Amino acid sequence: MQRSYVAELAAPGHKVPVRACVDEPSQPIWLFPSVGEYPVYGDFVYDVMLADERRMSRYTRAVRRFAPGRTVLDIGTGQDAVWALAAARAGARHVWAVEVIPKSARIARKNIEQAGFADRITVVEGLSTKVELPERVDMCVSEIIGTLGGSEGAGPVLRDARERLVKPGGMFIPHRSVTTAVALDLGSATGGEPPGFPPAAFGFVEEIFAAVGRPFDLRVCLAGLQDVPKVRERSYLSGAVEVEPLEFNGDLRPEGVDTAELTFTRPGSFSGLALGMRLWVAEDDVPIDSLFEWSNWTPVYAALSEEGLPVRPGDRFAFEFTTTMSDDGVHPDYALTGELHRGSGPAVPLRWDSAHHPDGFRESFFHRWMFPEA
Ligand SMILES: C[S@@+](CC[C@H](N)C(=O)[O-])C[C@H]1O[C@@H](n2cnc3c(N)ncnc32)[C@H](O)[C@@H]1O
Repeated sequence: MQRSYVAELAAPGHKVPVRACVDEPSQPIWLFPSVGEYPVYGDFVYDVMLADERRMSRYTRAVRRFAPGRTVLDIGTGQDAVWALAAARAGARHVWAVEVIPKSARIARKNIEQAGFADRITVVEGLSTKVELPERVDMCVSEIIGTLGGSEGAGPVLRDARERLVKPGGMFIPHRSVTTAVALDLGSATGGEPPGFPPAAFGFVEEIFAAVGRPFDLRVCLAGLQDVPKVRERSYLSGAVEVEPLEFNGDLRPEGVDTAELTFTRPGSFSGLALGMRLWVAEDDVPIDSLFEWSNWTPVYAALSEEGLPVRPGDRFAFEFTTTMSDDGVHPDYALTGELHRGSGPAVPLRWDSAHHPDGFRESFFHRWMFPEA
């Protein structure tokens, strides 16, 4: 059966051809857009987050531990208001639950009323960086960690909360996040079958294009990569390194340049990086690690070489990872520049750009492949 084909998406003003794959469980890897930074949420995305057992248990434990007797700000409460309700049930004095998506805020209000907590949780509709609260709170809980740690704006949003909405010295859940990177052999991950978007993903790509107002080179995840140890073992060519550290209870710097070096531990064809995140919900927690265990955070693909570059153990990829704020002041633009060092040959320069809402469309070989010209 043919597993990959070209379909059409509705983008503002016109149709866009898209590389598609059939929806079937035997598909090892498929493409899915990174949705949280636009933000494109609905029942499906919220339900996947609620099904993420590790995320749920780490957050519930931290909220129960720190919320009793405190006033709480829940940034991005979502339609289920999970942390606002957990805080109120644990004995928080009052919870301010802020949500930017109007429909999600409406549903959250209804869920809070039904749970009998309307007197202790106030839902505030809007972007946390724009809203005012009648009091500064003792603590802030949020889950606005992206597929790359900071991609949903956790850095600037939580820095703003610290400056305006939380009492000096107030505490933050989560405690810390980083973005992680491993060297990837995409062909080994997919078993030689180039990945496509399953039809179930089309609507999300369309919503992201609609949110920005045009098709553009969006950030894309490799679903299926993190879940199966066999897939990781044959496609990860190195261990992981950390960049973009975000210290929510410390010196929080949303922008910066990090240097890192990956050493290849296996032979293979180096096509790019799988980028993920590690998240310490509480300071003393084992971090959630999206490159090495199933979670609702799916690894992003940073495509670096179309054909793949042969590598051997001991070869190195040294790179700079730059985070700057996009013009919306909240969502970062990312750029990665590096050099592949192999044996005695010349260094090979490689580059990946992933702005939040870049002007260009089909600027990279990978985007030209995903969205072929008609
Ligand atoms: C990853 S979901 C988390 C939902 C819920 N708190 C949970 O953990 O299950 C992030 C939510 O935060 C909202 N959001 C993101 N940034 C926000 C901000 N600065 N102010 C208000 N809402 C925000 C999104 O619309 C989305 O509903």
